[in-house]
Amino acid sequence: MKLMRWFAAAVALTAMSFSASAEYLHTKMNFTERLSGSAETLVVLVPADTEELAVRGWSRDTTRHVNRAMQVGEFTGAAKQELVVIAPAGLSEQRVVLVGVGAPNELTRVTAEEIGASLANHVNATKAETIHIDSRLVADATANARIVAAMAHGIDLRNYRFDRFKSEPAARPAQTFEWLVVGDSDAASQYAEFSGIAHGVFLARELTNLPGSSGYPAAFAEIVRAELEPLGIEITILGPEQVRELGMGSLYGVSQGSQHKAHLLVAHWRGSDEQPIALVGKGNTFDTGGYNLKTAAASILAMQTDKAGAAAVVGAVKALALQNAPLNVVAVAPLSHNMISGEAQLPGDVVTAGDGTTIEVGNTDAEGRLILADGIWYAREHFNPRVIADIATLTGAKVGALGTAYSAIFSEHDSIINTLRVAGENTNELVWQLPLGPYPGIVNSRIADRINTGSPGAQAGAIFLQHFAGDTPWVHIDMAGNALIQSPQGIHPEGATGYGVRLLTEWVKLYSAE
Ligand code: BES
Ligand code: MN
Ligand code: ZN
Repeated sequence: MKLMRWFAAAVALTAMSFSASAEYLHTKMNFTERLSGSAETLVVLVPADTEELAVRGWSRDTTRHVNRAMQVGEFTGAAKQELVVIAPAGLSEQRVVLVGVGAPNELTRVTAEEIGASLANHVNATKAETIHIDSRLVADATANARIVAAMAHGIDLRNYRFDRFKSEPAARPAQTFEWLVVGDSDAASQYAEFSGIAHGVFLARELTNLPGSSGYPAAFAEIVRAELEPLGIEITILGPEQVRELGMGSLYGVSQGSQHKAHLLVAHWRGSDEQPIALVGKGNTFDTGGYNLKTAAASILAMQTDKAGAAAVVGAVKALALQNAPLNVVAVAPLSHNMISGEAQLPGDVVTAGDGTTIEVGNTDAEGRLILADGIWYAREHFNPRVIADIATLTGAKVGALGTAYSAIFSEHDSIINTLRVAGENTNELVWQLPLGPYPGIVNSRIADRINTGSPGAQAGAIFLQHFAGDTPWVHIDMAGNALIQSPQGIHPEGATGYGVRLLTEWVKLYSAE
C-alpha cells in the first residue's frame, strides 16, 4: 500500500515536471501589413524567374547591390533557392536573405514547410533576434497565406529540442518573426491551425524520445493526462488490474515480467456527436524482445521509440483539440514494457485476448500485435467506431520492404487507402499499400486459435490484427523505422520525428469529408 502511494507520487512528479516545461517554442510569429521597428535580418520571398528584384521602399543602391548578388549567385527564385546578402548597401539590416518560392500557386505545403525549416537553420546560425519577412512579391492573397503559414509552421517544427535531460541545455531559438503579408492574406488564421499540429507533433516527439525507464506505461499515461485533459479531452487510464479484469490477457502478458505493468490509455476528443473515428497506437514503452531477446546492440538500442504509434495517436488528438476540430476522434493506446524476469512471458505461452481469441506466443518479440489486438478490440467494444486505424512500429520486415520514406498500409477499403494516400502526400508522411492476402493459414497455430508469427513478416502482423477489427472498416499502418532519425532532416531536428501526427490529423479530415 505504502509502495503504491509512493509509486503514484513518483508518477505524478514525472507528469508535473513534464508539463511545467512543456512550452516547446520560444519563438514568436507575427503577421502584419506594416512592419514595426527594425530587424537584423530581412527575408524576401522571391517568385520564380525574377530577373530584376524591385522591393518597395528600397533605395537605388540597395536594389543595385541585391540584384548584382542575385546575378553572381545565379539566384532566380526557383523553389528552395536561398541567397544571403551580407551588409546590404543602404539598409540597416545586417543581412538580406532571398528565398525562392518558385511558382507561388504551385508551391505545395510540404515544400513551403521545408523552405521554412531551412530558413530556421540559417537564422539559428546567426545572432539575429528579429527577422522581417517580406512576402509581398507573392501578390496573390490565397498563395500568400498558404505559403507564409506553411513556412512559419516549418520553422516551428524544425525548432523543437529534446533537452530535458541536459543539465545545461543550449539556449533554444528565441527569435521574433514578423511577416509582412499582402492585405487580404489569411496567413495568421492558417498559421493558428498549423500551430495545433505543431504542438501535437511536439508531444509525440517528446513521448517517443523519453528513455525506456522514464516513459514506462504509467508515466506515459499520466504525462498524456496532464497535457490533454486541460484541452477538454476525456482521459481514461486503465491500470494493470483493470486490464486483466476486462480479459485483455494479450495486452497484459507482454509486461507481466516487468515492474511496469500494462496500462490502457484512452484520449477522446468529442468535437461532434458523430460515430467516432478510432486511432489505436502501439505503446510498447520499451522493447527488449522479451525472452526472444534482441541480442544485437543495434537492434535493442533506440527501442524506447517503440511507443511512437501511441505517441502519434495522442499527438493527433491533441492537434485536433487545439484546432477545435468538429470531429469525434478517440485515441486508444495499449501500453506495455516488454521485459525479461522470472515472471516474464515465455516463447510458446498461450494467452487469451479480450475477444476470447487464444494466441500462441510464437515469439515474445512480436509483442506489438499482442497489445494492439486488445487495443483494437477495446476500441471496437467501447466506442463502436465507424473506422479504426492502428499505427505501430511493428516489423523489421516493413523496413526491409519499403525503407523509411514510406510506411506500409493494409486495408480492404479503397476509400481508406485512397484518403490515406492523399493525406500522406499532403504531409510528406508517405504510405504504400501492401496486400492482406492471399496468405492462407499464415497465422494459424497448432495449439491455439492464432499465432503471433508468420511470413512474410509485415503481412503476418497485419493479418493477425485484422481479426480483432471484426467487421469494422480498418487499416493497419506499419511505421517501423519512421519514428527516429539520427541527424536533422528538413522539418525534423534529430531524434524522434513525431511521425504519424501530421498524417493522421490530415487523414481524419479527408476521411470524414468522404
Ligand atoms: N518493435 C519491433 C519492430 C521494429 C524493428 C521497430 C525495427 C523499429 C525498428 C517489433 O516489436 C519486433 O521486434 N518485430 C519483430 C517481429 C518478429 C519477431 C516476428 C521483427 O520485425 O523482427
Ligand atoms: Mn518486438
Ligand atoms: Zn516492438
